[in-house]
Amino acid sequence: MTILTLENTLLRQKAEPVKNIDDAIRTIAGKMINALHAGKGVGLAGPQIGFMKRLFVVHVEGDVPRVFINPSITATSTETVKYEEGCLSIPGVWADVIRARSLQVQAWNEKGRPFTMDADGILARVILHEYDHLEGVLFIDRLSVSKRNSILAKINKQAPLRQEK
Ligand code: NI
Repeated sequence: MTILTLENTLLRQKAEPVKNIDDAIRTIAGKMINALHAGKGVGLAGPQIGFMKRLFVVHVEGDVPRVFINPSITATSTETVKYEEGCLSIPGVWADVIRARSLQVQAWNEKGRPFTMDADGILARVILHEYDHLEGVLFIDRLSVSKRNSILAKINKQAPLRQEK
């Protein structure tokens, strides 16, 4: 399973709802969890593997791997917190991002069962980061323009010969 990186325009598209939670979806979710572990990440969303459906997987330390299908963020705290984020699609880049401290999310799991979850701390952060991927938003979009430009300049210096796919 190849994880798409920043220059791939699929990362900028909005994902479509999953219509049926079937064996095909379960297989993809399982592969995504494996890719997440292989990449030592904490979250991976469908668009990051070119699967343009509203699905992401999350596995934070001390918790079990979780699958979120057709998620909705139904509430977020007004209180925000700044924390360093990275992304498997933007390797080697880390930056502080401000997000809501806690949230409530509704989604379906890989068995097709709906659930509602309250999350805070790292789990809330990862859920918000992965949800953004379903909307075509990357964490660098949430930085100041100057910070984002300095990151993009560094990436371009590292990979001067990269071609558009
Ligand atoms: Ni990401």
